[in-house]
Amino acid sequence: MTVTVRSFAKINMGLRIGPARPDGFHELLTLYQTIGLHDVLRVSVARGSGIEIRCTDTRVPRDESNTCWKVAERVMQSLRTKGRVVIDIDKRLPVQGGLGGASANAVATLLALEQVLRRPLPPAEKLRIAAEIGSDLPLFLVGGTVLGVSRGEQVYPVPDFPAIPCVVLTPDVGVSTPRAFATWDSQQKLTPPPTFDRMNELGRELSAWLSEPYSGAPSGFWKRRGRAENPLLWLVRAGIKNDFEEVVFPEYPELGEAKRTVMRAGAKYASLSGSGSTLYGLFPSRETAARAVKKLRKQGWTAQATVTLPRRQYWRRIFR
Ligand code: C5P
Repeated sequence: MTVTVRSFAKINMGLRIGPARPDGFHELLTLYQTIGLHDVLRVSVARGSGIEIRCTDTRVPRDESNTCWKVAERVMQSLRTKGRVVIDIDKRLPVQGGLGGASANAVATLLALEQVLRRPLPPAEKLRIAAEIGSDLPLFLVGGTVLGVSRGEQVYPVPDFPAIPCVVLTPDVGVSTPRAFATWDSQQKLTPPPTFDRMNELGRELSAWLSEPYSGAPSGFWKRRGRAENPLLWLVRAGIKNDFEEVVFPEYPELGEAKRTVMRAGAKYASLSGSGSTLYGLFPSRETAARAVKKLRKQGWTAQATVTLPRRQYWRRIFR
């Protein structure tokens, strides 16, 4: 049996970097959001043993360094089962970093294997396997709008944003995530930081957003001003930002320029996703997003229009 699965991408709506930890990772606070852009994976298990990755995109590794391979190995071990796992990846997402493509592929493999083998894994076991492979795998076991803490692997579903039209821009630049973290650390050493303050600040904004409907404001107040009307604009006003921009834009000025271009093309909000190089802009309508894509492409950028994917749609559309 072969199971076909959509592997959706994510963007980060706000990301704060905290202190470096003894294990080499950094404390993080981020809001992940799944989006409609996706790869398609076909996963099957035949008699025999071993793992085979098929992908025509030469930038995708086909050996044990592929996150899908790692997940397949662990799932087969965890289920104490044998067989030859074949994973066929139809790469449609840009491979530039920031969209969590490889992480999403790995989680899609895990979900497909459960279906192929008709053996569900306990949810906590799935989260454990995902977190072991990478910090931004577990979010794809939740989908929609997801709060990420610790090194980003501890994930909690939060009330979904409605579907928001967005434009994803993929500049032809590769940004190394460990290097971006290292640059961040060296800058923090120069100006000793209230590192936890920065995270607490975003934490307070998110907490205020989540508790808003219960905050005792006069009835009707939030209908006029609050998140019932436009949760996204509320967060934008609250100043969500991605700390990586501070280290990535000085090193790659073209990415800062790309962000300004997205804003000029009509975005209500634009940001680097993760450590980049992918950037995204959020738009008031599908029409304005489509117009922006046309304009950006004319200027030579690689841009795609999509829409953010709330949790329910995410799970409804994963299997087809
Ligand atoms: O977990 P993941 O494989 O995505 O992390 C890649 C690298 O990014 C890590 O080896 C680490 O250098 C850095 N990282 C970090 N702090 C995090 C997440 C990642 O320093 N919270």
